[in-house]
Amino acid sequence: MTQVELFKKLIAHSKEYGFVFPSSEIYDGLSAVYDYGQNGVELKNNLRRYWWEAMTRLNENIVGIDAAIFMHPTTWVASGHVGAFHDPLIDNKDSKKRYRADVLIEEWMEKQREKLEKEVEKARKRFGDAFNEKLFRQTNPRVVELTESITTVNRRMVEALDQNNLAEVKKIIEDCEIVCPISGTRNWTEIRQFNLMCETKLGSVNDEANTIYLRPETAQGIFVNYINVQKTGRMKIPFGIAQVGKAFRNEIVARQFIFRMREFEQMEMQFFVRPSEEMKWYEFWMEKRMRWHSAMGFGDSKYRFHKHEKLAHYANAASDIEFEFPFGFKEVEGIHSRTDFDLANHQKHSGKKLQYFDPDIKQSYIPYVIETSIGLDRTFLLVLSAAYAEEKVAKEDGTSDERVVLRIPPALAPVKLAVFPLVKKDGLPEMARKIMDDLKFDFACQYEEKDTIGKRYRRHDAIGTPFCITVDHQTLEDETVTIRYRDTMEQERVPASRLREIMNDKVSLTNLLRQI
Ligand code: GAP
Repeated sequence: MTQVELFKKLIAHSKEYGFVFPSSEIYDGLSAVYDYGQNGVELKNNLRRYWWEAMTRLNENIVGIDAAIFMHPTTWVASGHVGAFHDPLIDNKDSKKRYRADVLIEEWMEKQREKLEKEVEKARKRFGDAFNEKLFRQTNPRVVELTESITTVNRRMVEALDQNNLAEVKKIIEDCEIVCPISGTRNWTEIRQFNLMCETKLGSVNDEANTIYLRPETAQGIFVNYINVQKTGRMKIPFGIAQVGKAFRNEIVARQFIFRMREFEQMEMQFFVRPSEEMKWYEFWMEKRMRWHSAMGFGDSKYRFHKHEKLAHYANAASDIEFEFPFGFKEVEGIHSRTDFDLANHQKHSGKKLQYFDPDIKQSYIPYVIETSIGLDRTFLLVLSAAYAEEKVAKEDGTSDERVVLRIPPALAPVKLAVFPLVKKDGLPEMARKIMDDLKFDFACQYEEKDTIGKRYRRHDAIGTPFCITVDHQTLEDETVTIRYRDTMEQERVPASRLREIMNDKVSLTNLLRQI
């Protein structure tokens, strides 16, 4: 199965099993807007909680807030979003498809990198143990040529975007002979900048003065509240403020399912530090955030850091944590050193003092900020992509069956355990209900009695339920039940009275948090 096929299956599976639906689907949907179904909302809540507890419970110096989506319009002038939050877009005249010009160039560079790595791999195989990779990279004419062309194009792009030189960006696309992936032609329009903020009106008078923006990032709600939290919480630098909430962007090029949406959720943390100490904390948070990802257990080789060459208008250093989605390595989280850009600008535009008096060094200053910013929806897609598996399952009669299983970490799974009576008679349903009614106070449980046990297992494999409990005739005799494990499909007989204790250990968020 190709990665493209896998991704299509994942989208269909998400819908079929109540994870993600296209928004207002009965009206043919709304582009790049999605709704979460009965299983999706549980997974999303669990992911949100995993992040929230990791930030606010495990760090004594991080507290949370929940700021409003609507903010005073000057917020967005001060933050630079009115002036600089735009994408350079280019259209292909033949396919009528629109692209982000910088993404087209980045994808071109990625292809060159892949070619380069293939050359290195070929040579490694050819020379075996005698292979000197460093020397090969420095001297092989093809590798040197590819390296130089990537470096040159990258430098040109960064400079052109910094200077807002859109003609030069287009020239790079022409020089690299980049074609539209749909039409295959190089028939491009000029490049134009599009602001990404969504506008709405508030109040009764429909004029300019009432135009406000739906926040394009949650971070500004933290910045404008920083002094409130610092004073009321008597916070001492370094300290952090965490927030989870909706953000809105008029993404023109919105593709790849819930990867790029117009309405999405961010989980952001701003960490306020002494000026000049920001790089130390930037490194600290890069490592710490990677550990949070790693604890989910999808394999460290699925992640990598990508250092930004072109920095956002507020940053002096930035790296992404990229995950290998079915459509390649892509950003799931950003770690940004935002200097004092936001607080200094809010101080300027509001006229309110946003300085902090540092009792340890007896100085007042505007703190510098390290931000960790992760998309909740993108993390959701990460989990689904990593967890989805199709497997052949041997049957007792020697034939084989297929199953789709979501290997979601148990602590994050939408349903933790399903309780089944083996048959719908002989008092088994009543017994199964009793067990379920007892366990539901501690765990997200589901009771199922319809269809064969095999079909019930498949349904729960498909939504990632880690444990299925079956009540059978032996249960009536000795009060034992079987636990069937999603990943190994093995079964174990245990006393029903031990279920809570066994489950507690296996599905505990605390245990996941301990692994960070
Ligand atoms: N406050 C900084 C900030 O907003 P960003 O890199 O623009 O930085 C941070 O966004 C994260 O938010 C991204 O890494 C991504 O996970 C998520 N994100 C951004 N735009 C998104 C979109 N259109 N749809 C879904 N998630 C998005």
